[in-house]
Amino acid sequence: MTAKRHTITAALPYANGPVHIGHLAGCYLPADIYTRYLKAKREEVLFICGSDEHGVPITIRAKKEGITYQAAVDKYHHLMQQAFADFGIEFSCYGRTSSPTHHQLSSDFFRKLYDNNGFTEETTEQYYDPEAKHFLADRYITGTCPRCSNQGAYGDQCEKCGSTLNATDLINPKSALSGAVPELKATKNWFLPLDKLQMEFIDGYIAEKKGKWKQHVLGQCQSWLTEGLRPRAMTRDLDWGVKVPIEGADGKVLYVWFDAPLGYFSATKEYFDSRFSSTFNGVESVQSEGELGQIEVGKIQLDDWKKWWVKEEGTEQHVVHFIGKDNIVFHCIIFPAMLHAYNQLGMEQYLIADQVPANEFLNLEGQKISTSRNHAVWLHEYLQDFTRKTDELRYYLTAIMPENADSDFTWKGFQLAVNSELVAIIGNFINRVAVLLHKFYDGKIPSETGMGDREKNLFDNLKQTADTIDSHLQQFRFRDAQSALVDLFRSGNKYFAETEPWHLIKTDPEQTKGVLAAAANYCVSLGILCKPFLPQAAERIKDLFKVANDKYDLTSLGVTNILVIGHAISPAEHLYKNIEDAEIAKQVDKLKTSPVTLFKGEGENNGVELSQSISGLSKSEIVFEDFSKLDIRIGTIKEVVKVPKADKLLQLTVDVGIDTRTIVSGIAQHFTPEELVGKQVMVLVNLAPRKMKGIESQGMILLAEDENGKLVFVTPENQVNNGAGVS
Ligand code: 2FM
Ligand code: ZN
Repeated sequence: MTAKRHTITAALPYANGPVHIGHLAGCYLPADIYTRYLKAKREEVLFICGSDEHGVPITIRAKKEGITYQAAVDKYHHLMQQAFADFGIEFSCYGRTSSPTHHQLSSDFFRKLYDNNGFTEETTEQYYDPEAKHFLADRYITGTCPRCSNQGAYGDQCEKCGSTLNATDLINPKSALSGAVPELKATKNWFLPLDKLQMEFIDGYIAEKKGKWKQHVLGQCQSWLTEGLRPRAMTRDLDWGVKVPIEGADGKVLYVWFDAPLGYFSATKEYFDSRFSSTFNGVESVQSEGELGQIEVGKIQLDDWKKWWVKEEGTEQHVVHFIGKDNIVFHCIIFPAMLHAYNQLGMEQYLIADQVPANEFLNLEGQKISTSRNHAVWLHEYLQDFTRKTDELRYYLTAIMPENADSDFTWKGFQLAVNSELVAIIGNFINRVAVLLHKFYDGKIPSETGMGDREKNLFDNLKQTADTIDSHLQQFRFRDAQSALVDLFRSGNKYFAETEPWHLIKTDPEQTKGVLAAAANYCVSLGILCKPFLPQAAERIKDLFKVANDKYDLTSLGVTNILVIGHAISPAEHLYKNIEDAEIAKQVDKLKTSPVTLFKGEGENNGVELSQSISGLSKSEIVFEDFSKLDIRIGTIKEVVKVPKADKLLQLTVDVGIDTRTIVSGIAQHFTPEELVGKQVMVLVNLAPRKMKGIESQGMILLAEDENGKLVFVTPENQVNNGAGVS
């Protein structure tokens, strides 16, 4: 049989702030569930992560805290690593990109490409902050949008009108670092020819993933490819990062998105180096269950980290990158392009991802999670407030995982999930079995499992559902997989409701023994299936029923005599406790009273908060002439269709009196097409037309946003004729 080896990665989080629930639901939790599941199947698996310690976000954070860059990454690296460990995310290795191993490895990778003409050299004019003495990434320049006059536009995009910009397009540009007026300065950088690599490799690579990858991941890739990839600079003018290993490149570092994914390799290498450098003599034992699987440690060479990243004949190898949707282009296009370019050199043939099951975003109480506004649930704070309640958070986050669309975390939802499912369904069933065994049989398995029709159905259904869970997990459907698991506990409760052992004992003591033996053995199987999702429950069930380690894996699933006659169990205990209203109220209050900081430039998306509107910021005063330039009219929405391959856009046909026109609006996540048709709205009709997804939008519909981020139309109080002016 061909061995299967799985290399699982979870996006390296920026070491510029703590981990929050959005990060967990986005990638760390699904990656952990997936890895634990593969381990339970005894497949070879390595789970890699680490801190991303380079890039502008780090420098901003350090400056804000008044500490060195290294001190900043040290602080957040340790904080994140600890929080992940406390939460039970079981990385095989957790590296960091400021390590010497990483600098060496990524520098060598760059140099090999460079030596083989892998880059083009270009001199461009970039904005430079004369006060901060920094070249400025586009995101760190603000100014007035040339299209809509928004004064808070960024160098790469205006969030108000949605235009994609170049920093040099901005009117009155300012540095977000110091407020200084930036100067243009010529600078040389090295570009990866993505245009060439698209034709040579990426187009085919993505085309081959159709039907295999999630639709939203393919959709994002396709939209990049349709627009056409352009060469992208792989070096930056910055004083923090991996130095560009070329003469005359002083003051330049590798682009953070060039070195970060190579962090997966360097974390693996460091792990192997540290595991085997001192003790390597063939006697090192395998450390954790499943990891390294069947590999005989004595045969591993010191550079064996490559077993996880380099193609090996006769071995079925899988690389899976778990990421959030803001990382899609980097993992599905740029990193594969880098690896392909390297593979062309004819040295090692690096594996390129065969799956990138990116998740969408998790919102919190109806609003986007925002680190800069402190609208977040921080993992380390959760772990302080809810001591050892890790299954509880895992369970709820999995139940609402944003697998194919954004989803919403609410504290009430969390409480409901814990109390009505973990406590009432899962904990309750396990507890009832243990309590009855103690009550009737002194805590011992009283007989062999009774195997009547009911028991046969119970165990048959268990095996079928385990197959269903397997197929859900193989396709990264974590919500469905967990929900199938809960159904098995429901079946256990139903079995008890039908057999009523507490009554049966009076009429048929022999049969009661068989029922409780069946229930106890069924509990063991459920505990095994809990391993990937609810590791605390899995451990507690194992301890409660005193199951031997070597019997507690998927090979024992559905076995009806894991617990044999006379086997003694531990005293009954509840697996979970209810979450009280007061605990929830405290968390809700905490969110309401979180101090709001308006500091920009350290948010969740490449270091910058992208689209959150910050209320309270007023615009500068205008005169009546400014206002009179706006031609706002009443219109009626006639038709609405979704814009293909754009989650947020609707294409509206609006009768505005003077004509009937097309308007593209980013409201698809707030309204269905059906509820819009016939609505009277206010339309800015003299806005310069612009194209979105290839459709020309001829105006803008006015909307207001309430405090929960919900959009409402600004409509006339009474029906008026289309085309009526608003003044
Ligand atoms: O978005 C982020 O948080 C990045 N630090 C992810 C990097 S993933 C990988 F490429 F390292
Ligand atoms: Zn604009």
